[in-house]
Amino acid sequence: MTLILVIETSCDETGAAVYDLEQQKILSNVLFSQIKEHEKYGGVVPEIASRSQLEKINPIITASLQEANLSIDQIDVIAVAQGPGLVGSLFVGLCFAKGIAWSYNKKIIGVNHLDGHVFSSFLKNDLTVEQNIGFPHLCLSVSGGHTSLYLVNDFGSYEVVGQTIDDAAGEAFDKIAKILGFGYPGGPVIEKLAEQANFQDYFNYPRTRPRGQDVFFSFSGLKTAVLYDLVKRGVYDLNVGPIVQNLTDELKQQVSSSLLVCIGDIFVNNVKLAFKKYPNVQSFTFVGGVACNKYLRSRLELICNKYNKKFFFAPPQFCTDNAAMIAFVGGYKTLRAEFSVLSLDVKV
Ligand code: KG4
Ligand code: ZN
Repeated sequence: MTLILVIETSCDETGAAVYDLEQQKILSNVLFSQIKEHEKYGGVVPEIASRSQLEKINPIITASLQEANLSIDQIDVIAVAQGPGLVGSLFVGLCFAKGIAWSYNKKIIGVNHLDGHVFSSFLKNDLTVEQNIGFPHLCLSVSGGHTSLYLVNDFGSYEVVGQTIDDAAGEAFDKIAKILGFGYPGGPVIEKLAEQANFQDYFNYPRTRPRGQDVFFSFSGLKTAVLYDLVKRGVYDLNVGPIVQNLTDELKQQVSSSLLVCIGDIFVNNVKLAFKKYPNVQSFTFVGGVACNKYLRSRLELICNKYNKKFFFAPPQFCTDNAAMIAFVGGYKTLRAEFSVLSLDVKV
């Protein structure tokens, strides 16, 4: 039996998990989210994030071992998210992992956080591993920090088909939510309001046009277009901020709904181009924090059905940052003996 203890502290979540490699089963997955500490600032404050990581790391790791009913002596390998992410937060997890590996004489593996997201759709809600995705497949990975479409050739091997040239889609949700005074993170609030407006397109915000047949994302112009549309409607002042008495619930719902439909169209248009470019792929996966969005999932599922591709998405608990997705990558790296040296460093 090979047991892997996993630490993930890339941003504003402290995560720890235990993975049983032979059984391909996550034995525990514990997460502390700092959302409450950051929401009043409208985004993550790096210094607050790293200090909170320091407070939480020990109790979260202890809780994950307890939940798996194991002691540290029974662990074989320590896997740790090495980056990209916030340098201070990453340092906490990495130093802790190195400390455990050194003092208990365990092997250590540094894991790329983005690999964790790309392969997170291999985890099922019942904590076992999905066997039907296959290679090569296409993966749309969308979070607050990235929006990329990948051709995934094997575990640990993938290439960028297209990615955002400016903001990530999650960032667009967060920034527009901030403009409207919804707080952080913006995606879940916007989804709820959009549902109340029946996912209709009221304002026809600009869709970024792919250059020729290239897969291509850009969300910075969309954010500006929404902002100036709000100014035009008399609900936002560029110097003062939202004019709350004019910002009706109906308008909030309509803006949210139009935004979501617009981002849905941008995704679908790009995925269609990718399916044409790579006709041999059989499957498509949708991962990252934004893949929590049911509307976007249903749009992507529809297009997959149309093109006869199997559709998979990471369950919501594995969409946003979590240690289980790092565990899965740590698992296939262990099988390949891709261990790190103790001098491994963060990779921001
Ligand atoms: O993967 P994640 O936890 O963090 C990064 O690595 O960035 O993703 C967070 C992002 C935020 O931008 C948040 O607004 C977005 O995921 N998000 C959503 C939803 N839930 C979270 N976006 C749209 N709809 C949602 N339901
Ligand atoms: Zn992430």
